[in-house]
Amino acid sequence: MIKVAIVIGSTRPGRKAEVVARWVHGIAARRTDADFELVDLQAFDLPLLDEPMPPMMGQYSKPHTRAWSAKVASFDAYVFVTPEYNHGTSGALKNAIDYLYREWNNKAAGFVAYGSAGGVRAVEQLRLVMGELMVADVRAQLALSLFTDFENFTTFKPAPNHEKAVSTMLDQVIAWGGALKTLRSA
Ligand SMILES: Cc1cc2nc3c(=O)[nH]c(=O)nc-3n(C[C@H](O)[C@H](O)[C@H](O)COP(=O)(O)O)c2cc1C
Repeated sequence: MIKVAIVIGSTRPGRKAEVVARWVHGIAARRTDADFELVDLQAFDLPLLDEPMPPMMGQYSKPHTRAWSAKVASFDAYVFVTPEYNHGTSGALKNAIDYLYREWNNKAAGFVAYGSAGGVRAVEQLRLVMGELMVADVRAQLALSLFTDFENFTTFKPAPNHEKAVSTMLDQVIAWGGALKTLRSA
């Protein structure tokens, strides 16, 4: 079975990313075709990239980089739960992605975003980043609205139709994650 990380892509105090990621994980955990784990960027406490060597070299000098590398390397696929900050993803998520290189290569990813326009601009930006990292990003994505999926812009109350969208996105992530695992082991 492949292992899928559900990455909590905000470290902001009071972040919405955590409740959204836990909801995704709750839906995912009912499946039997992959293992799912929540990965919280906050737990890795990464400073702004502070490695002297380019990540592509894989020569890490800091304990926080080695811990993050080991965690990311242990998965076959990722679901990035991302807010939209100024029409992009969060600085925290982009920084965490930039820390590594080979750990991401030839794996699959899907996106769950939220924002006033469903976070779609953050996801479009992330798709460009995925290309450079050789991550296969699936078509299906979640676009949660701050207006209709959060009561008073605060309490997460996702519209019922989103659950089906999570399942479709996970179907695609698991299919591509499994295919690429074969490629990596060949
Ligand atoms: C620095 C900053 C920039 C933001 N820019 C946007 C934006 O461009 N588009 C949008 O829809 N929401 C924007 N928002 C609103 C966020 O989507 C909203 O605050 C969301 O809860 C942030 O995710 P988080 O709570 O998980 O950190 C912005 C919020 C912050 C803090």
